Amino acid sequence: MSITLVTGASSGIGLAVARLAATRGDHVVLVARGRESLDAAARGCERLGAASTMVLPLDVRDDEAVRDLVAAVLDRHGRLDTVIHCAGVTAFGRTESLPSEIFDGVLRTNLLGSANVARHVVPVLRSQGSGTLVLVGSALGHITAPSMSPYVISKWGVRALAHQLRLENRDRPDVAIVYVAPGGVDTPIYHHAASVIGYEGRPPPPVSSPQRAARQILRRVDRGRGRPQLSLANEVIRLVRAVPHVHDRLVAPILGFLITDLTRPVAPHPGNVLTTMPGENAMRGRHGNSALGIVRNLAVRIRRRGRGTATASDPKSPRTSS
Ligand SMILES: NC(=O)c1ccc[n+]([C@@H]2O[C@H](COP(=O)([O-])OP(=O)(O)OC[C@H]3O[C@@H](n4cnc5c(N)ncnc54)[C@H](OP(=O)(O)O)[C@@H]3O)[C@@H](O)[C@H]2O)c1
Repeated sequence: MSITLVTGASSGIGLAVARLAATRGDHVVLVARGRESLDAAARGCERLGAASTMVLPLDVRDDEAVRDLVAAVLDRHGRLDTVIHCAGVTAFGRTESLPSEIFDGVLRTNLLGSANVARHVVPVLRSQGSGTLVLVGSALGHITAPSMSPYVISKWGVRALAHQLRLENRDRPDVAIVYVAPGGVDTPIYHHAASVIGYEGRPPPPVSSPQRAARQILRRVDRGRGRPQLSLANEVIRLVRAVPHVHDRLVAPILGFLITDLTRPVAPHPGNVLTTMPGENAMRGRHGNSALGIVRNLAVRIRRRGRGTATASDPKSPRTSS
C-alpha cells in the first residue's frame, strides 16, 4: 500500500487529493496548519478506506518543521512513496499596495515552502530509488495578471524549481518530479486570499472542480509524468503570451476582471496568508456558476460606469481600499 503525503490537505485541491488517495486504500499523511480541519479531513479519509491516516499540523514556511515531518513519516512507515505539495496562499493587490508581510508571506509559503518540501523529500526518494514529488503551480506561473504580483512571482518560481529538480535528478529515472498547473478551480482559496483591492477574488472560467483536479494529479502520479497544464484554456493563454502586446493589452485586463468578484466587497484583510482561518477550510469554494458570476460582474461595472465610479478591477482605476 502506498504512503501518500499531501500538504494543504485540509481544503480545496489538497483535500480532494487526500480523499481520492484514501479511496485507493493508501496510507494518507495530512499536512496543513489548522488542526481542526485536518482532523476532519482525516476522519473523512478513514471513512473512504484509507489504510491509515496521520495528521501533522505544521507550517511549510518552517524548514525545521518540514524536516521533522518527513522524519515522523519515515519513523512510522519506513518509506515515502508520493508527496503531493498543494499548500498555497494568494493575495490580491498591486505590488506597492500589499503590506510587505503579506507579499513576503505568499512567496514564503508558495515558493520557499515548495523548496522546503523538496529539500527534505527528494533525498528520501533518491535513497529509496523510487517515489514521486508533485509540485502544484498555476496557470499564473506562465502568464501575468493584474493585482496578483506575489502569487504570480511565486508560481513562476515553483515552475522554475520543478525544472531545476528534474535536472538535478536526471540520474535517478525512478524519482519523478511532477509539475502541474491548474486553471480556475472552485476552492476556498479566493475567499482565503488576502485582499487590498476592495473585493474578493473568484476562479476564472473555465472553472473546474477540486475533485477533477485531484483525479488529473493522481493520474500523473501513476504515470510519473503528463501534461503540466490541467486545462486546455491554460494552453491557449500560454500561447497568447508569446505575443506580449496582445497579452498585456487584452488578456491580462480581461483576466483581472474575471478573477475579481465585484459583488463581494471586502475591507483590506490578510486572509490566511499568515495564519490559518479556523472554520473556513472546505473542499469547494462558494462561487457558484462562473457564467452567472461574469454577468453579475458586468452588471456591477455597468451600474458604476453609469454613476461615473471606477471599479477595482479596472486596470486604470486607482486602488482605494487600503
Ligand atoms: N483554486 C484554484 O483556482 C487554483 C488555481 C491554480 C493553482 N492553485 C494552487 O493549488 C494549490 C491548492 O490551492 P486550493 O485552491 O486548494 O487552496 P485552499 O482551498 O485555500 O487550500 C489551501 C491549503 O493549504 C494550507 N496552507 C496554507 N498555507 C499553509 C502553510 N503555510 N503551511 C501549511 N499549509 C498551508 C491550508 O490550510 P491551513 O490554512 O489550515 O494551513 C489549506 O489546507 C495551491 O498551491 C494553489 O496555488 C489553485
